[in-house]
Amino acid sequence: MNLRTIDQLIQAQAISEGAGVTVHRTIGTKALRHCDPFLMLDHFGSDNPNEYIAGFPDHPHRGFITFTYMLDGHMLHQDSLGNQGHLRTGGAQWMKAARGVIHSEMPQQSHGLMRGFQLWINLPSHEKMSKPEYQELSPQSIPTITTDDFEARVLSGAFAGHSGAIHDPHTHVHYFDVRLRPEKEFSTLIPAEHTAFVYVYEGDAHIGNTPVPRHTLALLGHGDTFILKGGKNGARFIVVSGQPLGEPIVQYGPFVMNTRAEIEQAFADFQAGKFATIKAEMKEH
Ligand code: CO
Repeated sequence: MNLRTIDQLIQAQAISEGAGVTVHRTIGTKALRHCDPFLMLDHFGSDNPNEYIAGFPDHPHRGFITFTYMLDGHMLHQDSLGNQGHLRTGGAQWMKAARGVIHSEMPQQSHGLMRGFQLWINLPSHEKMSKPEYQELSPQSIPTITTDDFEARVLSGAFAGHSGAIHDPHTHVHYFDVRLRPEKEFSTLIPAEHTAFVYVYEGDAHIGNTPVPRHTLALLGHGDTFILKGGKNGARFIVVSGQPLGEPIVQYGPFVMNTRAEIEQAFADFQAGKFATIKAEMKEH
């Protein structure tokens, strides 16, 4: 066993996204531009409708996967593939934008708590212009492992012999949501070649002797496991890992490709209405 320790701690930055939704961003900020294969991590969480009601109206993506996990609330997703999905408390959605998707994510509630995560996972170059795909998971379809010390929901990957509901075939992402009781420990195996991080969203924790406060991402160093200890009020956190791609990353907003020319092509295709054409075609059927 080789214990992973913390390589870097990143405090989330409040950013206005979509039509004016406040998100807490860690991956995708100056402090941590990317951590291959992950391009962005946003934590949205508010019980003030003014901070979420405007939602995320129609916008494009190309070249990567968006993985959305709802902790609380209800959003309606609609996209140019013709998919329409209700994301509810405890549910998740894996959308491979690949060569291009236009979608919207709009709140279906006018009050109460809206909380969750959106993670952007990069695609290997040979998959960036492939056909878009979509997987949606109801809260009931996500396996939950309960012990005396914690409750772990397995969204993707494998935990203690349980396989997650979402299959991520390109970077083999493991994604767990953990609720840890006060001053208890959590540990899990992480493939040694994976990039791995923990994000604490309730309570606080320690990894080794280093405190990991709320709204902080701990990027883990080399090893095949790690131990996290919950604070006196316990902790809620996500544990995510994935296979790095080791390819050049050229990003412009919602387009993530390998070269500048491919980004220019993405803009040209978008301006020419090629993403929208897919949407119009889908609506006719
Ligand atoms: Co989006």
